Amino acid sequence: MSNHIFIKQKIPSFKKKIRVSSDKSISIRTVLFASQAVGISEISNLLESEDVTNALKTIKKLGINYSKRGGVYYIEGFGTNGFKFRENISINAGNSGTLARLILGLLVKSKFKIKLRGDKSLSKRDFSRVIKPLRLFGVNIKSKNNRLPIEILGSDFLRPITYNENIGSAQVKSCILLGALNTPGITTIKSKHSRNHTELMLKFLNYPFKIKKEKKFDKILIQGLHQFNAFKYSVPGDISSASFFIVLTLLSKKSEMVIENVNVNKSRIGIITILNKMGANIKFKRKKLYNGEEIADIYVKSKTNLKSINCPPKLNSSAIDEFLIIFLVAAKAKGISKFKNLGEMNKKESKRLNLGVNFLKLIGIKVERFGDDIKIHGNPDLSLSKNFEMKNFLKDHRIFFLSCITALTLGGKWKINDKKSANTSFPEFLKILQNVGGQIK
Ligand code: S3P
Repeated sequence: MSNHIFIKQKIPSFKKKIRVSSDKSISIRTVLFASQAVGISEISNLLESEDVTNALKTIKKLGINYSKRGGVYYIEGFGTNGFKFRENISINAGNSGTLARLILGLLVKSKFKIKLRGDKSLSKRDFSRVIKPLRLFGVNIKSKNNRLPIEILGSDFLRPITYNENIGSAQVKSCILLGALNTPGITTIKSKHSRNHTELMLKFLNYPFKIKKEKKFDKILIQGLHQFNAFKYSVPGDISSASFFIVLTLLSKKSEMVIENVNVNKSRIGIITILNKMGANIKFKRKKLYNGEEIADIYVKSKTNLKSINCPPKLNSSAIDEFLIIFLVAAKAKGISKFKNLGEMNKKESKRLNLGVNFLKLIGIKVERFGDDIKIHGNPDLSLSKNFEMKNFLKDHRIFFLSCITALTLGGKWKINDKKSANTSFPEFLKILQNVGGQIK
């Protein structure tokens, strides 16, 4: 089967109700928490994408069994530090930074050496952000230049840490929280705001911890060595996946979409705030609370006359995975949009800030770059007719999705490579696009 697609025409007007794939962050967390719970957890609507499959394979290698029956995953845990492997082993996180960083937190007490590997993209990413706090716990870690492969050997003499997490990384915060589960005493994290799914899950599991909210930071105090029971969880839709369909609708003519059952946790919806500031009118309906997470149906309509934005950097963390698609809206908006402090984008599956800027230039948009800040000169009349080919983007799923949405809303004749990259987070992407009316060959 070929690994590229062609898109040669814009999507016709549509009025659709869809569901997107389940949330990746929450799916990985439910698998990891279930592996540490006492008893058999039941997880439904688990995202079946490569990142999550790698999480399942990882816990299996660590001695945790799971099975799938009638759409439900059953995972049997034996409590914290209940992994049942008895020799040095190697695990593979594939493309997933979240899995790689979170699993290290669960291995702080491992009695055998574990080698953690990843794919080409993950092996280029920096792990000093988790190696540093893990060493403070007393864990033995070896790696060359803070990159994968990493060798980790746990310790019997762990000590609780007090750590300032000032990148604003949920992966780092979560790695430390998971490390604290196996560490005696109280671990304290002063953490710059980032997505809070791990904290919500700890709360849902009645795990003893406290959060003190400060203006720019959360101070989290977590007590180690408590057990929690197996749980049932149904994973909601992913706002990061929904974002591509939100922008598809916004930039298409006379179109409307409802995206049902999406996680709209406040720490994830920066894109909605940003797009509404740019003139969109995106609404949440049928909002409900599920195990601490907010879920809603998202209503969006086409919008001409979008305006530029001076994006407040305080929204960066809640939109961190969505900036690529936000840049596309800025390209079609009237005026110059400004974004600041986006250096973290270059630390993702690919160097997304660099690739995003090059992408905008490729489609004829003027971009000014000053270090980690950019200015996008929008052009509301932007329409494409040339031939484009997208390749060499380190198979970054979000660059693949961005290219498809650009082709379907702005036109041009596109060949887009690395179709399989969609399997990282959103395997249903192309099928749903076709159901909405996209002509994809
Ligand atoms: C994630 C956190 C974010 C995000 C990633 C998923 C998570 O990374 O970009 O896609 O599930 O914790 P950082 O925490 O490194 O910003």
